[in-house]
Amino acid sequence: MSETDFDLTTVDRLLSTTRAVRRRLDLDRPVSRELILDCIRLSQQAPTATNMQTWRWIILDDPGKRKEMGELYGRGIPLIKEAARKAQDDQTRRVYEHAQEFAERLSEVPVHVIPCVEGGLDATSEEAGYAATVSFYGSIFPAIWSFQLALRSRGLGSVLTTLHLTYQEESRAILGLPDDVAQIALIPVAYTRGLNFKPTQRPPAESITHFNGWNA
Ligand SMILES: Cc1cc2nc3c(=O)[nH]c(=O)nc-3n(C[C@H](O)[C@H](O)[C@H](O)COP(=O)(O)O)c2cc1C
Repeated sequence: MSETDFDLTTVDRLLSTTRAVRRRLDLDRPVSRELILDCIRLSQQAPTATNMQTWRWIILDDPGKRKEMGELYGRGIPLIKEAARKAQDDQTRRVYEHAQEFAERLSEVPVHVIPCVEGGLDATSEEAGYAATVSFYGSIFPAIWSFQLALRSRGLGSVLTTLHLTYQEESRAILGLPDDVAQIALIPVAYTRGLNFKPTQRPPAESITHFNGWNA
C-alpha cells in the first residue's frame, strides 16, 4: 500500500522491466524529435555533483551519420565474439550473442543518442582524482537512466552501449565534438515490438546488502 499518490504497480513495473532492448526494436517506425526531446527534458531532473548540469545530448537521426556510427561500432564485433567465447554462464553468453547481432544492424536503428558532458575531468591529485572521477561520470548516468525510463514509458526501447568508445577519436570526428566535451555512451532508440518486458533474474537484495558495515 502506497503512502503517496504514486501508482506503485506502474512505477515498479517501469523500474523492473526497463531492459536492454536489442532484438525487439522496430527498425521501420520513425521516432519523432519531439519525443526524444520530451525524454531528455525529463532526464534533466536527475542529480549532478555540485548541481553542475553540464549534460549535452547529440542525436543522430540522419541515415548517413547513423551508417558512419554503425560501421564504427561494428569494428568492435571481434571483441564481442571474444567476450561470448569467455562467458561463464548461459545468460551472459546469450547477452553477447544478441549484442553481436545488434552490432551488425546498429545503423538501421532510427535514432542514436550520445549523452556527453561538457568540461574536462579535474583530477589534480590522486585522492581528489578518485572523487572527481566518480563525480564526473556519476553526474551523467542518473540522467541517462531517467532518459531510458522515460523512453520505456512511451513505448520506446533502448540499450546503453559503450563499445564505440574503443574508437573514441573516430567517434569524436563523426560527432564533430569539441576537445572539452566527453562522450559517455551511445544509446540506440526505437519503438519496441510489443510492450510486455519482464523482470530479469538478479541476486536477492538481502544477499548484497550490509547493514552497519561489511562484516557487521
Ligand atoms: C556501462 C554499460 C556499458 C554497456 N555497454 C554495452 C555495449 O557496448 N553493447 C551492448 O550491447 N550492451 C551494453 N550494455 C548493456 C548491458 O549488456 C545490459 O545492460 C546487461 O546485459 C543487462 O541487461 P538488462 O539491462 O536487460 O538487464 C552496457 C551497459 C552498461 C551499464
